[in-house]
Amino acid sequence: MFDAPLRAFFLWVSNRRWIARVALRTPLLRGMALRFVAGTTLDQAAVAVAGLNATGASATLDILGESVSDRATADRAAAEYVAAIERIAADGLDANVSIKLSQMGLDLGVEECLSVMRPVVEAGKRHDIFVRIDMESSDYTDRTLEVVNRLRADGFDVGPVIQSYLHRSRADVLALAAEQVRVRVCKGAYAESDEIAWHARDVVDRSFVKLSRLLLDADAYPGIATHDPRMIDAVEAYVRQKGIRQDRFEFQMLYGIRRDLQRQLLQRGYRLRIYVPYGTEWYPYFMRRLAERPANVLFLLRSLFGERG
Ligand code: FDA
Repeated sequence: MFDAPLRAFFLWVSNRRWIARVALRTPLLRGMALRFVAGTTLDQAAVAVAGLNATGASATLDILGESVSDRATADRAAAEYVAAIERIAADGLDANVSIKLSQMGLDLGVEECLSVMRPVVEAGKRHDIFVRIDMESSDYTDRTLEVVNRLRADGFDVGPVIQSYLHRSRADVLALAAEQVRVRVCKGAYAESDEIAWHARDVVDRSFVKLSRLLLDADAYPGIATHDPRMIDAVEAYVRQKGIRQDRFEFQMLYGIRRDLQRQLLQRGYRLRIYVPYGTEWYPYFMRRLAERPANVLFLLRSLFGERG
């Protein structure tokens, strides 16, 4: 009953820098965030990925941080991604990377962002590691797709994320499928207006299933990113009906969420990639996870005090 206002509240606080500054210094919140974040350093993230690989899951590393407004900070974030790619290759981890373009200077312009991204995609190419471009709020959708298309035109192995809550997504998926682009489909995690996004759960879910089917038919190794058992059932039924092999796509889930379902999918022989975020800038990511499921606040508080007690 209180989910909608709580969701709006968490999305609102996720964008408030002054609240972030306080939160980053609050040990209780940091402790809660660790349920969803693999740590603050690349070393900690590499340990988490090795652990996931040992269970049969692959991973995608996300260095937390977004909305960078100067070139030097964007270049530093890009250098951290290069280091992550080098580490994946050196340790022989089964992982790729996921990047938010606002962290790579997209607010400074598409050309600037392309130039910041260059060393990252070159490192990906050097080590044959795919670079996933996350999708942010709708202000960024066109620019994000433009950067993806231009990097692909230059021969780099990158692919975007499409959000099923956006009205435009069917058209975007059709264009990407025609080009055999490797897409991740998810429901969408940002606050959007009724003009451009659906909010009714059943409509977003129907859109998710339709987009997943289009991407499976295109056979460009889609990532089906969800923890929703009903979405997973729908995809399972479709691949069985169409005779699509388990190695033609992968399911994707977030670190620390529905680990029971993660295990079940692996046991049933599906490919599964876990999104592993790390870094000091965990605050907006954590708030979006709380917005998705406000009950997490109670759950986390209980487990935290339970464990301490
Ligand atoms: P839904 O929200 O209906 O949840 C289904 C069930 O999953 C819940 O009932 C609960 O059991 C569990 N669950 C879901 N969220 C939970 C949470 N936070 N805590 C605890 N349990 C939870 N979004 C975006 O806008 N851009 C992007 O680039 C990405 N990238 C991305 C990558 C990957 C690998 C995943 C899995 C998700 C994303 N997302 C994303 C987030 C996505 O848009 C969406 O907000 C979440 O996945 C939640 O939606 P579900 O499909 O899981 O279903």
